[in-house]
Amino acid sequence: MTTLPMTRAQHFQEHLFTELPFRARHLSPLRRLYRQMLAGCLGEQFSFHASPGLHPNMTWHYATNPHTLAAFQRCLTGSDLSESLSIVDGDARLLAACFVVVRGDTPALDYHVDYGQVEIPSGVTGTMLTPLHAFNPPYGQLDYCEGGRELEYRYRVGDAILFDGKLQHRPQAAGSIEGEARVLVSWSIATEDPRYCFAIRRVIESQMPDPPSPDA
Ligand SMILES: [Fe+2]
Repeated sequence: MTTLPMTRAQHFQEHLFTELPFRARHLSPLRRLYRQMLAGCLGEQFSFHASPGLHPNMTWHYATNPHTLAAFQRCLTGSDLSESLSIVDGDARLLAACFVVVRGDTPALDYHVDYGQVEIPSGVTGTMLTPLHAFNPPYGQLDYCEGGRELEYRYRVGDAILFDGKLQHRPQAAGSIEGEARVLVSWSIATEDPRYCFAIRRVIESQMPDPPSPDA
């Protein structure tokens, strides 16, 4: 009997992460949006909020209105990244999205999980990360723990990592290049199961003051 290769959903369930290849051209609208945000010339329909990240040299630029979140949603649903919504609990939705910007050196940080609350089981939340542009050392990659081992995921343009809210991970220590930044796109994906929505929403709200309305 031949053994079928593991699907991405099975890999996510068993290993708490999976990788999704996609066509990098789908990042173009987000690259334009990021440039406009940096230049301070976003259209008035767009809005971001800069929240402190895991270190003073890291900033999370969250989409703070439905129009801005829709740009991140289109990148997801218009590409092979759409599979992420069926991988997380069979039928999930995008709750929040941001650019994760590192500018300057960052030290090795502690491991953490994105949804550590006991009310939130594994399999119902996901964080998906992909680089907006290619980057090289001294910018760091992603460390994660699996089965007591420390492993490394290397970011590549056209490849995203989707990991469960219970996966232990941390950004690697990184150097910096004068005048440059490392930018990741981050999508927060979660189940619509009402048993977990309140606790999940609380985690998202702790990271941004004014999350886009889920009903908008
Ligand atoms: Fe994290």
